[in-house]
Amino acid sequence: MAQILIVDDQKSVRATLQITLSRAGHTVDEASSGEDAIQRVDSTLYDLVLTDLKMEGADGLAVLEAVKARDQDTEVILVTAFGTIESAVTAIKRGAHDYLTKPFTPDQVLHAVDLALERRRLRTEVRTLSRRLDDPNDPATIIGESERVRRVLEIVREWAQSDSTILITGETGTGKDLLARAIRSMSPRKDRSYVVVNCATIPDNLFESELFGHVRGAFSGATRNRKGLAQEADGGTLFLDEIGELPLEVQPQLLRFLETGEIRPIGQNRSMRVDARVIAATNRDLGGMIARGEFREDLYYRLNVLPVELPPLRERKDDVARLSSHFVERYAKRLGRPVLEVSKRALLVLQTYEWPGNVRELENVIERGVMLAKGTELRPEHLLMPGRFGLDGTAASSNPAGSLEDVDEISGDLLSLPEVERRHILAVLKACSGNQKKASAILQISKSTLWRKLKEYGIEASRLGPPPPSIEA
Ligand SMILES: Nc1ncnc2c1ncn2[C@@H]1O[C@H](COP(=O)(O)OP(=O)(O)OP(=O)(O)O)[C@@H](O)[C@H]1O
Ligand SMILES: [Mg+2]
Repeated sequence: MAQILIVDDQKSVRATLQITLSRAGHTVDEASSGEDAIQRVDSTLYDLVLTDLKMEGADGLAVLEAVKARDQDTEVILVTAFGTIESAVTAIKRGAHDYLTKPFTPDQVLHAVDLALERRRLRTEVRTLSRRLDDPNDPATIIGESERVRRVLEIVREWAQSDSTILITGETGTGKDLLARAIRSMSPRKDRSYVVVNCATIPDNLFESELFGHVRGAFSGATRNRKGLAQEADGGTLFLDEIGELPLEVQPQLLRFLETGEIRPIGQNRSMRVDARVIAATNRDLGGMIARGEFREDLYYRLNVLPVELPPLRERKDDVARLSSHFVERYAKRLGRPVLEVSKRALLVLQTYEWPGNVRELENVIERGVMLAKGTELRPEHLLMPGRFGLDGTAASSNPAGSLEDVDEISGDLLSLPEVERRHILAVLKACSGNQKKASAILQISKSTLWRKLKEYGIEASRLGPPPPSIEA
């Protein structure tokens, strides 16, 4: 289903095209002159414009130019009378997709329109695909033998087949991103676009436009038409990551989209249908946020149709062994090293640690371990975890299970955990001269989590720099 504009000064031609295209299920607008068309593309995001070449005043080439100036991705098909092929060729050179010669049959029109729309779809997909190829974790392989993870996988395999919204919850690093990708690749939409919106990194005032798009002139700075990320996901999957960070002002629009399947770009007076499967994820306690008035309850129920919770790693220690060898293999290969054996004692250390950063932290510890290990075995001294070994490799505790005797006395105030976290994050950032990438690697949290936390601490936006990219696939 596409949004199409027909431009022709002959009423009969418009009528024929209108019938043919609406029968095929498209939403069709008509313009009776080039000027009229140019006005319309200013207020509506079209997928395709079908325009007559020869018209009084603004002709087909002028329409083509106006369309492409607003949105390169809108396809244009020129309609020419016999004998004006030369101008049609000029049009193709300037970015038109195709031309139709009058007189034409309905089949010829539908064929040309299908090809143009297919080209538009492929172009979007190539963009997301090239990002996907960069993804080191692709394909999304989820390792987990524990009862709880097996149950999660069993249930999402079934849910993946439907189009209902899935809400993934779980602490940081438990694999929510990975699971969302896995659901998508088990779903019938696996070959269609996968658009990731990281709600933590989009500035509040740009949210609506990022998600739902805008037409030129909708607000100051909107110099071109822009498709929103929701529309980019049409036919595919839309992953709303860190949904707990979605600004309250945008929540009603998202709710409307989930309820009706329709979006309305800013400045466009008509809604349009978008067929996207929504998966959302968060490590925040949405229930608590609702109680504090920070998250809409009605939106929560719309998102929480199929809820899935990823358990923290400390509650599924039987996964540690398999995950460890999985990561050892991955990093040995990546570093060009022979695959190491995880020693029995090393495994005991890994299994007794509490993993506050969950699987991500385990992955980081193993990566560093593989770099440090010189022989054929990964041993306890290669495993650098806070509280066990200092970063210089000196043992802080020789007892993997930990005991109170080993803990240092606190000299200053007794601080809350969030305050310790805040101070520690800022200290690490300072030690890295403000380099967020380095700091997030040391802290073993994602760049977007770091960015969000700094925002929470009120670090000025200008010092935070641009947020990490919001689309990936
Ligand atoms: N079951 C698993 N099997 C293999 N790798 C995993 C698994 N769970 C997580 N990982 C890996 O751990 C890392 C962190 O996972 P992911 O980014 O999906 O976590 P998250 O829950 O989205 O974290 P955050 O809340 O911080 O965004 C990734 O590199 C991911 O590939
Ligand atoms: Mg994540």
